[in-house]
Amino acid sequence: MKIGILSDIHADMYDTVETPAQTLADVLNDTGADYVILAGDLSEDYEKTIRFIEYLTRHSKTRPVWVAGNHELWSRYHPDENTAQILAHYSDLPGFLHNQAMDLPGGWAVVGGCGWYDYSFAGTRFSYDQLEKRFYGEKTWMDSRYVYLGMSDPEFHARQVRALYTELCRHEKQKIIFVTHMVNNPHLVVPHGMPNWKKWEYFNAFLGSWELYRLTQHPSVRYAVCGHVHFRRNIVENERTYYCRCLGSCSEFVKFGGEQDLKSQMRDALEILELA
Ligand SMILES: [Fe+2]
Ligand SMILES: [Fe+2]
Repeated sequence: MKIGILSDIHADMYDTVETPAQTLADVLNDTGADYVILAGDLSEDYEKTIRFIEYLTRHSKTRPVWVAGNHELWSRYHPDENTAQILAHYSDLPGFLHNQAMDLPGGWAVVGGCGWYDYSFAGTRFSYDQLEKRFYGEKTWMDSRYVYLGMSDPEFHARQVRALYTELCRHEKQKIIFVTHMVNNPHLVVPHGMPNWKKWEYFNAFLGSWELYRLTQHPSVRYAVCGHVHFRRNIVENERTYYCRCLGSCSEFVKFGGEQDLKSQMRDALEILELA
């Protein structure tokens, strides 16, 4: 069984969402992957995310297994809808997991959901009151404008962690691929010394959490997948591999090097797992 892993396609940055959807279909058809795990941020408008998944399903034999990113939860184009209402639009789409699991052949299961953040990845010099503002150095974390959770970030995060833990326990006899959009390994946040580090010491707050990292350490988890941070990195820890395979927006392709066209970047970002 071949499984592709990719994240953060941000399809609404192209003329039409069908452009990156067709490119992904071509890349996947070339690989012969049976499934592709998409770890969120397909687009920031649920209508476009739905179009993307429907197009991909029609044009590729590879079956998508996917979770919402923070951008999937944005109400920017539907300001009358809250997070629960937006999530409901995805629930019947093929392969969508929101704190749910999908069985795969060979005793494997994917357990996945968006996850969230509880500010635990922020630098310790920031107080909760500072972080809760989600504003620093004249920069606003845009989830604060476009995501209507109806509760605080830590409370929403705690609910996601509890629900994901329940799913992990329900599937603990299987070999688990654990997927969240949010960063589930502290080594994958923006590291000290990166450009704009002072800002990232603050904005790392909104990338993921130590609690999500603890979930990845469930003994049945063999692989952990995340996105959101727009890196392409794999980390191996204690025989468990963490994949962060973000395509990122077109303006970021230059930082990844290589050919700058969409198909080349998608091939580079895509990881292929071969599982018995
Ligand atoms: Fe993203
Ligand atoms: Fe994201």
